[in-house]
Amino acid sequence: MNIKRVSIAGVFVLAVFGIFLFTQDSKDKTQNNIVNSSNISTVSAQDLRNEFGQAYSKEVEKTGEVVEIDMVASEGKVKIYEDTKTKVWNYNGQVPGPEIRVDLGDKVKVNFTNNLPDETTVHWHGVRVPNAMDGVPGVTQEPIQTGESFVYEFTPKDAGTFWFHPHVRGSEQLERGLYGTLIVEDEISKKYSQDEVWVIDDWRMTEDKQVDPNFMSMHDLAHDGRWGSTVTTNGSLDKKLNARPGERIRLRMVNSSNGRVYRLGFGGLDAKVIAVDGMYVKETFDASGFEFAPGNRIDVDIKVPKDASGEEFNIYDNFTRYSNKLGSIEVSGEPVETPQFSYPTNKKVPDWREADFVDTDKKYNLNARMGRGGIQWTINGKAYPNIDPFELEYDKFNKIKFVNESSRLHPMHLHGQFFKVISRNGKPAEENYFRDTVLVGPRESIEIGTVPLDKGKWLNHCHIQEHADAGMITAVEVK
Ligand code: C2O
Ligand code: CU
Repeated sequence: MNIKRVSIAGVFVLAVFGIFLFTQDSKDKTQNNIVNSSNISTVSAQDLRNEFGQAYSKEVEKTGEVVEIDMVASEGKVKIYEDTKTKVWNYNGQVPGPEIRVDLGDKVKVNFTNNLPDETTVHWHGVRVPNAMDGVPGVTQEPIQTGESFVYEFTPKDAGTFWFHPHVRGSEQLERGLYGTLIVEDEISKKYSQDEVWVIDDWRMTEDKQVDPNFMSMHDLAHDGRWGSTVTTNGSLDKKLNARPGERIRLRMVNSSNGRVYRLGFGGLDAKVIAVDGMYVKETFDASGFEFAPGNRIDVDIKVPKDASGEEFNIYDNFTRYSNKLGSIEVSGEPVETPQFSYPTNKKVPDWREADFVDTDKKYNLNARMGRGGIQWTINGKAYPNIDPFELEYDKFNKIKFVNESSRLHPMHLHGQFFKVISRNGKPAEENYFRDTVLVGPRESIEIGTVPLDKGKWLNHCHIQEHADAGMITAVEVK
């Protein structure tokens, strides 16, 4: 027997096996788990649940206060341009709709009336509400018909920046101007010099400065939804925030666009992300370059330099090759003392570094096909309302994988829970924060981990309104 030859063959077999593993690794983690769990890692879902600890809580301590507002959705007109009024659909006569501010632990009670020429609902994006308050027609409630009312009542469990919008034909209802914000304050949010909300939207207007009524166009469906070239912040084409030198500003930004993604720039300001999708990050990071997809929020902690009197800082977007100005901070007057406190962060955000070793059979393949009525956007080959909801285990570590088989963008949003990105294209991700919406790029695959603390049937969908309205919606059921 020729020992030398055997060992060469052995090396060869190992090498082939190694290549096999390597290619599998980048394509499909699931195969690799078998090897990892027996040879390398012993991390279990239970370990990951333990690591999560009380990163956010099951329940909130109630203050006993109730913040009650009447809210009406109706047709109206707003002034976006100097010389014209633009017809919109809005909440309480304004775009954006009301900014509802409450303290953590307060109950929110919204007496809602629909005066639109269409049925509607109100969904509280990112807020962990009782399932029946989630505003999803056909899943958590019946659509609210013209002239009808509905009372939304819940106590938000997390402090942070949230927003609300209809969950019926969003491609038209959001585009026409239906959205507002819900800000849940905690102690720290009162320490800033200013606490500002900027809702960023893009509109596609006709030549006479009206909302283009061609919703769900073939072009938009075949691309990343409806992108308009008129970008407004709080309904203004030229948003200005006045500040004194030395101020510390908490800027809460909301992307309410149907499809547009922004890459944020802060014009040289010291701007740190302290929260993403409402929740404090574990460690702050530079806000410049943040990819801000439909549905996302970020809270930015901005320190205006002491010597900046007379300066203007532009906040802009450069996601595409056409840059958009989102607004500016105009500094004037005598300097003030900068409020001194450390960045509000959540050190309990788990790292979940080895979470990619845990297997999942919950995979969502994102794709499109030609259906009878035109383009359909599908999840696992199905278009809403034809869905197969996955079951998630309450109070356990769960993993979901999104595989984008298309060459378009899909900001995937999960109702009623927060999650953390575990890996991108099979490589461990470095995100020190929770989200409720993650942008899945063309052909990209993303794994997320979540510990669901709220039971019920929750939607999981693409937040590009045209994709969602063309079927890209599924659900999970937390049991
Ligand atoms: Cu803001 Cu179902 O989404
Ligand atoms: Cu999409």
